[in-house]
Amino acid sequence: PLVTSTDMFKKAYEGGYAIGAFNVNNMEIIQGITEAAKEENAPLILQVSAGARKYANHTYLMKLIEAALIETDLPICVHLDHGDSFELCKSCIEGGFTSVMIDGSHLSFEENIKLTKQVTDYAHDKGVVVEGELGRLAGVEDAVNVSEKDSSYTDPDQVEEFVKKTGVDSLAIAIGTSHGAFKFKGEPQLRFDILEEVQNRLPGFPIVLHGASSVIPEFVEMINTYGGNMPGAKGVPEDMLRKAASMAVCKINIDSDLRLAMTANIRKHFVEHPDHFDPRQYLSPARAAIKGLVRNKLVNVLGCNGKA
Ligand code: G3H
Ligand code: 13P
Ligand code: ZN
Ligand code: NA
Repeated sequence: PLVTSTDMFKKAYEGGYAIGAFNVNNMEIIQGITEAAKEENAPLILQVSAGARKYANHTYLMKLIEAALIETDLPICVHLDHGDSFELCKSCIEGGFTSVMIDGSHLSFEENIKLTKQVTDYAHDKGVVVEGELGRLAGVEDAVNVSEKDSSYTDPDQVEEFVKKTGVDSLAIAIGTSHGAFKFKGEPQLRFDILEEVQNRLPGFPIVLHGASSVIPEFVEMINTYGGNMPGAKGVPEDMLRKAASMAVCKINIDSDLRLAMTANIRKHFVEHPDHFDPRQYLSPARAAIKGLVRNKLVNVLGCNGKA
């Protein structure tokens, strides 16, 4: 069934694991993710960005997800990723999403509270849950490109007031992750001390980690081997994600890894089969790679297998 993330997060918090929130843009991505979750009996969050909605159209994505609900019989939450306005959140709620993110992290603390509260008041009235964000991640967040110097860690002194005044159901924090395939120049480092402090201030409250792809070296290497060029691509090591999942982090966002798995396999296919021109020929291995990647995440990183 189509569900909110409320029950998922409660169980994940208590069980010391996290739910995977995977970005979806087309049928093959949705199929790869949901087939993996079905085999692992895992609860799922499928998230749609403004860009995904622009690319595929809200109705197409919603109907594809409805098909996945029928095929898998899993609890699936459909979430708006990085909503940037009240109107966008409202449109997604009216269009059947069970969860929305209002990302006011680029605003002042007061303006962020005001916008987020406007969304939670509307969403809660319709039975929809809301994710807010405090602190700014470096990298590309949809239309917003945050440079490294404009990024900033979440201030633990602000989280209680933010949650209380806005009524959000979960909170995304910035502890050193970033969006995209180039997350760290040197050694990967996350501020677990900030996560711990946030967790102390908000006992039992679900925390969200964005920019959490591992940028799996195997796929980066495949891309570079088969005609691509992504030198220095680097992500969050899996042991750090496992540690976050064992703490208050209940939702781990993954998009870049899906893109890399898909692209690596399509590049390989084209090099090995220069005569192929039927999209089914190269999208099948791409979809299978997404399925394999997601299974590994569910079992070895998130620990949410068997929890549906
Ligand atoms: O936060 C960014 C997500 O990876 C979504 O990316 O806005 O290009 O769809 P997108
Ligand atoms: P990645 O770019 O690390 O996959 O992050 C995705 C994300 O945070 C979507 O909101
Ligand atoms: Zn994000
Ligand atoms: Na957790």
